[in-house]
Amino acid sequence: MITVRAERPGDFAAVSEVNEKAFGRAAEGFVVDLLREACPDAVSLVADEGDKILGHIFFSPVLVTREGKVVLEGMGLAPLVVVPERQRQGIGSMLVRAGIDAMRERSCPFVIVLGHPEYYPRFGFTLASGRGLVSQWDGVPGEAFMVLVLDERAMADVSGVASYRSEFDQAV
Ligand SMILES: CC(C)(COP(=O)(O)OP(=O)(O)OC[C@H]1O[C@@H](n2cnc3c(N)ncnc32)[C@H](O)[C@@H]1OP(=O)(O)O)[C@@H](O)C(=O)NCCC(=O)NCCS
Repeated sequence: MITVRAERPGDFAAVSEVNEKAFGRAAEGFVVDLLREACPDAVSLVADEGDKILGHIFFSPVLVTREGKVVLEGMGLAPLVVVPERQRQGIGSMLVRAGIDAMRERSCPFVIVLGHPEYYPRFGFTLASGRGLVSQWDGVPGEAFMVLVLDERAMADVSGVASYRSEFDQAV
């Protein structure tokens, strides 16, 4: 049976390994290590099957700024990974849904993601540009930058640059 649960300290090495297997490089796992240290507010969940880690999802703080001023804080989803041999079996979806529930529970107003445009809309993500949000990075394809609004009231009139933590600059 697969369960999605909060990451524990004993999972750190397996989480790095799963990220490396899924992306074919160490950068994403390294960013997770940095953010785990730097961000007490980060949320890290794993998909666990009999103590084997099959997938991982991570959320870290994102700031929306306009004219240099912080307008609102939300969260960014990244990375999301499932080990290659177990992809397309619903594990990624379990992680995303559990992550969204966790974001709702902590009254997070929005979640952004930079990812596959065919994948995230099924969970309610829409184009960030439709909400007046732009990425901090140049050259990001518009259709890959998405937002899930969890608190419409908090998001009313919010627009600007939505920035992941600077630790991500090491992975782009
Ligand atoms: C993307 C990823 C996390 C999805 O996890 P998963 O467990 O394979 O996904 P699920 O089984 O929940 O969902 C499968 C669906 O996702 C779609 N999907 C899976 N990987 C996809 C990809 N790379 N691009 C677009 N769609 C993808 C499939 O088309 C499938 O759709 P269907 O059900 O209509 O056939 C996983 O493929 C992965 O780890 N990829 C490598 C790392 C990565 O790209 N991470 C995401 C960064 S945004």
